[in-house]
Amino acid sequence: MVHIEIPPYWEQLSLEGLSGVLMVIGAPDTGKSTFARYLYTRLCAFHERVAFIDGDIGQASLGPPTTMTLALRQGGETGFPPGGPRVRFFVGSNSPRGHMLPTLIGVHKLARRAQELGATVTVLDTTGLIAPEQGGPALKQAKVDLLEPTVVFAIRQGNELEPILGPLRRSARTRVVELPAAPAIRPRDMLTRRAYRARLFARYFADAYPLEISWARLAVFPAPCFSRYQLVAMEDRRGFALALGIVLEADPARKTVLLLTPAHSLQEVDALRIGDVWIHPETWEDYRAGDENDRRLPAAGRPNH
Ligand SMILES: Nc1ncnc2c1ncn2[C@@H]1O[C@H](COP(=O)(O)OP(=O)(O)O)[C@@H](O)[C@H]1O
Ligand SMILES: [Mg+2]
Repeated sequence: MVHIEIPPYWEQLSLEGLSGVLMVIGAPDTGKSTFARYLYTRLCAFHERVAFIDGDIGQASLGPPTTMTLALRQGGETGFPPGGPRVRFFVGSNSPRGHMLPTLIGVHKLARRAQELGATVTVLDTTGLIAPEQGGPALKQAKVDLLEPTVVFAIRQGNELEPILGPLRRSARTRVVELPAAPAIRPRDMLTRRAYRARLFARYFADAYPLEISWARLAVFPAPCFSRYQLVAMEDRRGFALALGIVLEADPARKTVLLLTPAHSLQEVDALRIGDVWIHPETWEDYRAGDENDRRLPAAGRPNH
């Protein structure tokens, strides 16, 4: 268990009376997730039904990368992670870059679901995408417009959040609370992040078996075009992810696909959604088509499972 240092300016935050969506933003490695968890546990003193949305599709905390997970507090528990119902949304990428629409749709669907499930306050942890040239401010501002958070907690080191916060500070549509990054933060490099994602995928697929799916009667988004090791989600009729799978084989003539998945049945499956990421089922590392890792793959055959 990692020891968390709680800065005095966290303890001094007055959280009583806060409700609705509370959004946490900041650059990568500023302590967003740590603060979001702290916020969740503090809110348990004031609300019976507290929700947490892990909206970080890269360095995810409550599910496999490429997904966002909603978790609700159960009974009188006060610890993290929440032990109540979980709902998942598949974005299909480990970064919002090039996937802004599903990122936005996902947080909105999960925030709405949290409310339907009775949450009176929802903590939303986000990705660290803030760079203007990558569309960071556009994404964060769109989230604010769509989710109408009561508070945006902005964790900052310097001026890096100005493009986002500049307009928000002057607007009455949300309250901005600015916090300095905690001194105890340990930054992680690209390789560490990659290895962390691989560990999460390995854990998620630990009990996975090949399952043949006939998609003749299922919707396949965006189109039934499967390639080996591609990550796919099985979605329910509301568009939430029931389980993920890795494509092992596909037979377009028979309209079947063999997925490595922890799902045992196809009950409730309404659609398959094809992701924009591939997972090597031996190393569990993710890659994109045309990546260096893609070229290292054997040309044909299927993995031994
Ligand atoms: N207040 C804190 N006390 C101790 N360690 C912290 C604290 N805040 C962050 N860390 C550590 O720093 C690293 C990055 O923090 P994290 O919350 O995951 O950042 P982010 O979500 O912004 O990427 C993690 O290893 C975390 O345990
Ligand atoms: Mg995080």
